[in-house]
Amino acid sequence: MTSVQTLTLRYPDDWHLHLRDGDALPAVVPHTAQRFARAIVMPNLKPPVTTTEQALAYRSRILAAVPHGAAFTPLMTLYLTDDTTADEIRRARDSGIVYGVKLYPAGATTHSDAGVTHVRHAYAALEAMQQAGLPLLVHGEATDPDVDVFDRETVFIERTLAPLMKDFPGLKIVLEHITTADAAAFVREGGELLGATVTPQHILMNRNALFQGGIRPHHYCLPVLKRERHRQAIMDVLAEGHARFFLGTDSAPHPRGAKESACGCAGIYSAHAALELYAEAFEAAGALQHLEAFASLNGPRFYGLPENEGTLTLVRDPWEVPQAYPLGGDTVVPLRAGTHIAWRLK
Ligand code: DOR
Ligand code: ZN
Repeated sequence: MTSVQTLTLRYPDDWHLHLRDGDALPAVVPHTAQRFARAIVMPNLKPPVTTTEQALAYRSRILAAVPHGAAFTPLMTLYLTDDTTADEIRRARDSGIVYGVKLYPAGATTHSDAGVTHVRHAYAALEAMQQAGLPLLVHGEATDPDVDVFDRETVFIERTLAPLMKDFPGLKIVLEHITTADAAAFVREGGELLGATVTPQHILMNRNALFQGGIRPHHYCLPVLKRERHRQAIMDVLAEGHARFFLGTDSAPHPRGAKESACGCAGIYSAHAALELYAEAFEAAGALQHLEAFASLNGPRFYGLPENEGTLTLVRDPWEVPQAYPLGGDTVVPLRAGTHIAWRLK
């Protein structure tokens, strides 16, 4: 059997991305700008991006880090807090540069301490978002310490997301970086206003990858990798070509030392090879014919944005991923460091 040697797609977007700030920006923005026309940029900086004014300033810093000649548009988000006002939401909508508002349950993940302590505190903002047509982007994990870490997504859907959807039936919601069969089924059976992003790690690996011959901090992210049956269930929905699932890498660089630590940070860096990694996962599932919709069509349709112009081509030409990339004065260890990836950007 002959295998496909080139893949040409309409120019794709990344609907969930961490770019950080300061001297990390010139290190990571080029990786994304080489592969994606647009990206939804997460607001979990220190301090978080909670106002339109901060989002505008952050956007300018990102644009200053886009390599000369590259066309890349950051789609900004606000960080929802207990104190986000309806006025702030309207300002965000009117700015034309904010495309979503991110809900981090307080304590759920990296830089989430300013997050929402209970969704009822955010109801005024959610009401305004529903009216403004501004999507809610959700880190879907329960934070109750009694909930097992592997069950947090499922419990969040039951206890928080489903009731919230009843209270705001007209709110557009993206359940970000889904990791379970439960989340895949919930979104699949949800209405037109519910979408999901999927990371490369959650369709390439299962939780065994955390303990391959020893503890693997560079495979640790949140929500944490799950059992094989969950990876398979997510890949199955993508292999059906379901229209409300789209590409969101959750690429989240941390300096090497912050991960290789007694208490290592959550986050996997994948921007250096994001599309190439998805191509591998889709190919392994026999679903390459659905990669373009996942990467380039489903996201714009969900967000009500135009598809990108032009195309991008991947060629089958295995390359070895470097052990590390520079990250400001530090380094970041990328996903698949020191191993080969089958696809290369043309
Ligand atoms: O693994 C993660 N890293 N999950 C998140 O939700 C946040 C992210 C980060 O900002 O490092
Ligand atoms: Zn994220």
